[in-house]
Amino acid sequence: MSVKKIDKENDSWTASVLTVTPEVFPGTLGVSNAGKSLKDGLWNLDIHDIKEYANIENLRADGPPAGGGPGMILRADVILPIIDIIKTKADRRPIMVMTPRGKVFNQLDAKKYSSGAGVIIICGRYEGIDQRVVDSVGALEVSIGDMVLSSGDIAASLVIDSCVRLIDGVMGKKESSFEESFENGLLEYPQYTLPRSYGEHEIPEILLSGNHEKIKKWRIEKSINTTKNNRPDLWRKYLKSD
Ligand code: ADE
Repeated sequence: MSVKKIDKENDSWTASVLTVTPEVFPGTLGVSNAGKSLKDGLWNLDIHDIKEYANIENLRADGPPAGGGPGMILRADVILPIIDIIKTKADRRPIMVMTPRGKVFNQLDAKKYSSGAGVIIICGRYEGIDQRVVDSVGALEVSIGDMVLSSGDIAASLVIDSCVRLIDGVMGKKESSFEESFENGLLEYPQYTLPRSYGEHEIPEILLSGNHEKIKKWRIEKSINTTKNNRPDLWRKYLKSD
């Protein structure tokens, strides 16, 4: 396996991923805008197979949970040496461990990490990762929401995608990202396209009126209603914000 040393002077934003199932990647990250910009070198995906490193050291990648219980835990003495190889002194990228126990990742986090040099992500499978990994390297425990996935690979792909799409040049030209969901504290308004009429369903008249002032007002109202209905937590936060 090739181990990539990250050269901060020259390298694009880089996600290094430690996983026991490297075949999952690039997956969804290899298609559309993310995939094209990956090929064009606007960002890098640097995948490390945990099992391969374990084999070299004649270790198993996982062990049974101390204290008993179901499943298997990824070993610290396998994961930490891989981090030592990947992360040079000059490499300031944060290390994340994907786990449902973590702090929930949001759009503000995506903005923050997309403006840095990249991320190093450790993906759990089985029952999780030895806590000494987190404690030794000061890793951030990151969740993508209140559900349990079968692997951290899916969660890592999500985190990487949300960062990569904010890198300059990755998405097609856009007037402004201000109106996207979360950007102004509200969810985005509903969108419509052709055909104008589909069965009984018409595009709201106002969107075809050409009256930009009215369209703007309608969109704000829809944003507010959607946020109130779908995310009362966000709505309360929005009200408190000014
Ligand atoms: N691994 C399993 N479930 C997860 C979640 N909700 N977030 C991040 N990693 C996970």
